[in-house]
Amino acid sequence: MKKIMDVKVSVQRAELHKIKTDMLCVGVFSDPKKLDDTNRLLDKKIGASAEKIIKLGDFKAEEHTTEVLYTAGKIAAQRLMLVGLGEKKKATLDTLRDAASCAAYKAAALNIKRLSLALHKAFEDKLDTVEMGRACAEGAYFGSFRYDEYVTKTEDAGPDKLMIDIVEPDQKDAAKLNKGCAAGIVVGRAQNLARMLSNRPGNVINPSTLAAEAMKLARQTKGLKCTVLNEKAMQKKNMGGILAVGSGSKSAPRFIILQYNGAGKSSRLPTVALVGKAITFDSGGISIKPAANMEAMKLDKSGGIAVMATLKAAAELKLPLNIYGLIPSAENLPSATSYRPGDIITTASGKTVEIQNTDAEGRMILCDALNYAVRQKCDIIIDIATLTGACVVALGQYMAGLFGNDDELIKKLQNAAQDSGERVWYMPSGDDYAKEMKSKIADLKNIGSKWGGACTAAAFLGQFVDKAKWAHLDIAGMDVFEHSTSCSAEGSTGFGVRLLTAFLTALSKGRKA
Ligand code: BES
Ligand code: MN
Ligand code: ZN
Repeated sequence: MKKIMDVKVSVQRAELHKIKTDMLCVGVFSDPKKLDDTNRLLDKKIGASAEKIIKLGDFKAEEHTTEVLYTAGKIAAQRLMLVGLGEKKKATLDTLRDAASCAAYKAAALNIKRLSLALHKAFEDKLDTVEMGRACAEGAYFGSFRYDEYVTKTEDAGPDKLMIDIVEPDQKDAAKLNKGCAAGIVVGRAQNLARMLSNRPGNVINPSTLAAEAMKLARQTKGLKCTVLNEKAMQKKNMGGILAVGSGSKSAPRFIILQYNGAGKSSRLPTVALVGKAITFDSGGISIKPAANMEAMKLDKSGGIAVMATLKAAAELKLPLNIYGLIPSAENLPSATSYRPGDIITTASGKTVEIQNTDAEGRMILCDALNYAVRQKCDIIIDIATLTGACVVALGQYMAGLFGNDDELIKKLQNAAQDSGERVWYMPSGDDYAKEMKSKIADLKNIGSKWGGACTAAAFLGQFVDKAKWAHLDIAGMDVFEHSTSCSAEGSTGFGVRLLTAFLTALSKGRKA
């Protein structure tokens, strides 16, 4: 198996024209049309070709577009890449993150060894310098990621090493960028780990190999502890939901518990549980799915893996918080031992559920994990799951569905979405939806009516959180890029790692919503 590309990101103090690099990247806004001072000085040195190419209209500086210019030895960089940023008045931290991502994606495609980013210069009068350092590092990791560990032909595989530096001549600004960059490196690497694990197929990642990855992560990360419950241990805890969903597969289910106690015992900050759905493959079970695109259901573990990676990031950032990462994991397959439509399952909470569709399995494993969080007296519970196709119908592939029972927590997650560029949209899940989940022969049933499937699923989960402040992220539309873009390779997005880390970071600072 090939090793995933080694990417290093750092801040270098240097004059832009003096940096010896394979490619130097600068940002260009489409409006105002004038080159800014930094770009004008640089462009003069290379014979004003940037100005010409923009005047000719060959490069319109729209967002997510790039243009490579060759410098003919007039500056120390081999290539100068213009990265389009769109209109300046619309630009945000996310514009910069995406620009860094596009630059890194292109660098990896060109097989470049050293990439230098001066993209932040275009935003200096607009954005905080520390935050810019973070966004650049996050974007640099995001864009350079390729999933090629099973590509054996070397000419098809990507490069194996890439050095990326953020270039800044001013000492004070370089120090600020460096501070943000340090955090961005942690988050970027955690997100790429999530993407690598999520991309791995069902014959490689099953509940027990996923648990082994979690154990490995805990061994490698200072302050992170991992406990794994096997079937026997889950039986003792009456986790009927996870056991039922896992009963059809030869790979037995697991309940993975990660713990990070960054605040110690006497924290005034709330204890947080992050709960992530990790169905290593979702065939639908006895209520089997159609064949088309079923392979995409290897990504049904993305929520659980996002939780694993977020705990790694939280520990590396040494956030002063106590956090649980709870990852129920099972493989949903049809077999002679599968759970069936009509079965009545007793969950860890004691509530009984009538199964009407074995493909609504996510809520069945999550309800036991939510109950575990309640028993641990967690103040805040956030679950993240590729839960419903209905959420994709509602929101498309741009935003995750956000549900919950606490306005302040919702606001905090909306702020974290803005911070991280991983967008969410607040959706309803109150009494009307909860009513649909009542069964005539058990306390609940596992599907609602034809309509509002994302909301009824959320309403089901909401009945397992007791008095905790709770939010639910339905990331069914967000787990994958079906095609590569100019900023990213196709495959797992690692969605949630940036969002949840931004949420935890703000929470640890006691920042008001
Ligand atoms: N894992 C799927 C949801 C999903 C769909 C994720 C598309 C990513 C892309 C989930 O377990 C599922 O099958 N949900 C059913 C629920 C239904 C039976 C109530 C669905 O959405 O069809
Ligand atoms: Mn399903
Ligand atoms: Zn599923």
